[in-house]
Amino acid sequence: MREREISKTNRDHRKIRSYVIRGGRISDSQRIARDLIFSTYGISFSRSELNLEFLFPHRQKLILEIGFGMGDATLEIAEQNPDVNFIGIEVHPPGVGRVLSQIEKKGLSNLRVIEHDAVEVLQHMFPDASINGIHIFFPDPWPKKRHHKRRLINSTLLTLMEAKLIDDGYVHIATDWQEYAAEIKALLSNSKNFSVDSKSYTTGPMNRPPTKFENRGKALGHRISDIIFRKN
Ligand SMILES: C[S@@+](CC[C@H](N)C(=O)[O-])C[C@H]1O[C@@H](n2cnc3c(N)ncnc32)[C@H](O)[C@@H]1O
Repeated sequence: MREREISKTNRDHRKIRSYVIRGGRISDSQRIARDLIFSTYGISFSRSELNLEFLFPHRQKLILEIGFGMGDATLEIAEQNPDVNFIGIEVHPPGVGRVLSQIEKKGLSNLRVIEHDAVEVLQHMFPDASINGIHIFFPDPWPKKRHHKRRLINSTLLTLMEAKLIDDGYVHIATDWQEYAAEIKALLSNSKNFSVDSKSYTTGPMNRPPTKFENRGKALGHRISDIIFRKN
């Protein structure tokens, strides 16, 4: 990315974050995993680019997941796709601890975790055109109008995703918040660098496991939108 674009996204993002780190109880096993296993399966935030050649035992497609929460879907997808590498990014300590302990328990060699703001991670750690797909399942909807500015999916993230995805790479976003879904569809549709994928907007069962927040939304009677766009 050009220097000016990077410093602009930096400046914009420093002001407003898309999350609040909640206290939330962290169990002993989550804490131990976070403290002890991180050095094996975690990747520390850094302001320099990752060397993707040496991160995983096999060089294969790379999918990023932003905001995996407690990580059930993340773990299931990684387990079912051993021929793809996955990096999950999350700021919620219990979720990070849980996924790390499950990676060890399941012996997964294709999933690694970063505990940091995903916007800064994308800005600094990934070379341009290095990612095959980005999953964002049930981003915080920030429903109050005065909080809309906190929404993760905005023009800053879009610029970063455009730069970091390979050509024909995809973005898969799921949400149960229809007003946010409309905003996301409009944002992506207005970008000349993305085209809608034919599987997008389906309301039937998607080719992904359900997530904790999705189940919560369904229990409240919310409709689920899966939005998939490909980089041109
Ligand atoms: C509503 S939860 C959904 C979690 C999970 N994907 C699910 O569907 O159950 C959104 C998650 O995104 C994380 N998140 C929000 N902004 C983030 C950011 N900038 N970087 C990393 N994680 C973020 C939050 O900590 C939270 O766990």
